[in-house]
Amino acid sequence: MRVAIFTDETGWHTRQLQAALRARGAEGRCIDLADCRIDTPAAWHGLVIPGFGRALPDAAIVRGIAGGSFEQVTLRLGVLHALRELGVAVYNDARAIERSVDKAMTSLLLHAAGVATPPTWAMESAAQAERLVTRESAAGHALVLKPLFGSQGKGLQRIGRVDGAHVPLPPLEGCGGLAYLQRFVPPPSGAAPGTGFDWRVLVVGGHAVTAMRRVSAHWIHNVAQGARCEPAALTPDLAALAEQAAATLSMDYAGIDLIPTPTGPQVLEVNGVAAWQGLQRVTGFNIAQALVDDLIDRRLARARRPVAVDPGRGRAARQA
Ligand SMILES: Nc1ncnc2c1ncn2[C@@H]1O[C@H](COP(=O)(O)OP(=O)(O)O)[C@@H](O)[C@H]1O
Ligand SMILES: [Mg+2]
Repeated sequence: MRVAIFTDETGWHTRQLQAALRARGAEGRCIDLADCRIDTPAAWHGLVIPGFGRALPDAAIVRGIAGGSFEQVTLRLGVLHALRELGVAVYNDARAIERSVDKAMTSLLLHAAGVATPPTWAMESAAQAERLVTRESAAGHALVLKPLFGSQGKGLQRIGRVDGAHVPLPPLEGCGGLAYLQRFVPPPSGAAPGTGFDWRVLVVGGHAVTAMRRVSAHWIHNVAQGARCEPAALTPDLAALAEQAAATLSMDYAGIDLIPTPTGPQVLEVNGVAAWQGLQRVTGFNIAQALVDDLIDRRLARARRPVAVDPGRGRAARQA
């Protein structure tokens, strides 16, 4: 079995995936989506995936998609969409990745599915955004302004009522001409300084499998921003909420960020191309192996289920 690992950088994660694939008798090849192309005369399916000749991979794992122009990213995602349309299992599917990369779409889908998440707004009108910030600030709330496609805690700002003072909305040119705003969830009252945290829960194949706390003095608790990782108990409410969030976005696997509130945890973010090096340090099993096992034993096994002919309609129907 030959599996494409789509990534724009090779390193610890891709080596972990390759070793886990080898342990299952499969080969993992790292390919940059930017090096793939559509070439309709080249093969019946019209795709060229370097290293696979005229063939298609048996499956694909998406580990990283480089940023680029709108057109470049569309073509890169197009390759993932095409693979799915051609019957290749893509782990996670491009539709799920698109929904999770767009923070506004994630918030809307979580809210509509009844998954606990802080109140969130996204709008292009600076006037509307300013009115919202004034209203929220008057009610004593801070808001978090986030880049729509952000990651690793980069570019987040607190505005509105911050530490007793009013912080105005900055010009929206710095955020792609729109405001994605989420009500700030303050740390639990009485928490000692430096003990603020959120949770990262990993969901694989529909099941929450491990959790950690990300602890730091700063209100942004990403590992990339210096938070330390501590093991955390996967309580039933945390597991259920993370599983609901992953299912809402149709994720094969996902890293869910959750924050404690007085009424229970709430989902901040769903990561469809999640890193797991920090989580691996505090987890007792091999995460890459869990991902590869889920790909092979669930996703690929489902795809290989026997196809029966439906005589009534004269076409193939997949057995349920
Ligand atoms: N609404 C919020 N209330 C409190 N803290 C938040 C909120 N939104 C984000 N944060 C903090 O910022 C971190 C990064 O936010 P997140 O939405 O996960 O974006 P990123 O994609 O950059 O990780 C979170 O893990 C959390 O620590
Ligand atoms: Mg996050």
